[in-house]
Amino acid sequence: MGAHTHGHSHAHGSTAHQSEHTPGNGHGHGHSHDHTHDGIDWSTQIDHLRREDALAADAQTQIARRLIGLLTGTGERPVVVDIGAGAGGQSAAFAVELAARGGGRLIIADAVTELLEAARATTAAALGGDDRVSVETVLVDAASDSVLDAVAQADLVWASRMVHHLPDQQAGTDRLAKLVRPGGWLALAEGGLPLRCLPWDLGVGTPGLQDRLLAVRDEFFGRMRAEITGSVPMPYGWNIALGRAGLAEVSAFSVLTDQPTATPEVRESVASWLDGLRNRMSDNVSDDDRTALDQLLDPTADSYIGAREDIFLLGATTIHLGRR
Ligand SMILES: C[S@@+](CC[C@H](N)C(=O)[O-])C[C@H]1O[C@@H](n2cnc3c(N)ncnc32)[C@H](O)[C@@H]1O
Repeated sequence: MGAHTHGHSHAHGSTAHQSEHTPGNGHGHGHSHDHTHDGIDWSTQIDHLRREDALAADAQTQIARRLIGLLTGTGERPVVVDIGAGAGGQSAAFAVELAARGGGRLIIADAVTELLEAARATTAAALGGDDRVSVETVLVDAASDSVLDAVAQADLVWASRMVHHLPDQQAGTDRLAKLVRPGGWLALAEGGLPLRCLPWDLGVGTPGLQDRLLAVRDEFFGRMRAEITGSVPMPYGWNIALGRAGLAEVSAFSVLTDQPTATPEVRESVASWLDGLRNRMSDNVSDDDRTALDQLLDPTADSYIGAREDIFLLGATTIHLGRR
C-alpha cells in the first residue's frame, strides 16, 4: 500500500492507513453485493470485521468517551453519524456513551445492506433495550453527494477506515465535513501503526517475517487504491485534508489495540490475517516466505500459528479531527 504501512490499524500519510487486515482477498467480482468503489465484497467480511471489533472494544470505548465528550452545548440529544460502520463495534460504543449521557440519535450509514444489518444488531445488543438512543440505518454511497440528502447533519460525523476506499479521499473528506453542523466535529480514523502480531524469530522460515508481511500489505493497499476507478492521489496527511475541507481546531490522538496474550480470539485473528495476506501476495514475495506462510497456516503441522503461545496483537489507530 502506498509507500506506507498499514495495519489493522493503519498507516499514514498520504494514502493512509489501513487496517486492511482484510482476510481472504475480499474481492467480489460480479456478485450481487451493494456497490463500493474498491472492488471488495464487504458482505463477505462480516465475520472478520466482528473479530476486529471484539479485539478493539477497549479502544472503541475510549474513542466514544473522548468524542462524545466533545459534544457539550449541542443540546440534549446529540446526533452522531457513523459512515462506513462495518460490523458496528464503534457505533455500539457511541450508542452506549450517548445513553450514559442522557440520550441521542445515532445514524449508521454504509454502502452495504448486510453490514447495516450487522451494525444495527450489534448496536441494539449493546443498548439492551435502552430507548434513550434512537438508531437509524441508511444505505449510502459516501462517494456521491446524494449522501448529503440521505443523512441528517450531525454534531459528530465519524468515519473509520472508510475514506481511503473512496476514489477521491479529499472530496470524500469535504463531503463528510458538510454533514457536520456548525460547531460540530468530523473525526476520521485513518493512519496509525499497522498491527503487529508475530515474534521476530518464529523458528519457521527467515526471521523478520512480520516486517516483510507488512510490506506485502502496503503493496496490496497501493494496488487497491490504484485499481479504484477514478482514483485520485492525496499526497498529504489527514490533518491537511481536514484543513482543506474547511475545518478548524484540527488535531489528532491515537489509541492502542493491545492484546499481549495469545487468547483464542487473538489466535483466530492472527491466523485470519496471515491467511488473507497469503491470498493476496504478489510475485515480490520470496519462495522462502511463501513456504513459511504455508507451514504457519497448516493446522496439522507443529508450526501452526493458531497453536502458538507467543503471538499477540499490538497496533495503534489515529483519529484525526476537526471542527466546523
Ligand atoms: C475497512 S471497513 C471499516 C469498518 C469500520 N468502520 C471499522 O473501522 O471497523 C470499510 C467500511 O466502509 C464501507 N464503505 C466502503 N465504501 C463505501 C462507500 N462508498 N460509501 C459508504 N460506505 C463505504 C464498507 O462497506 C465497510 O463497512
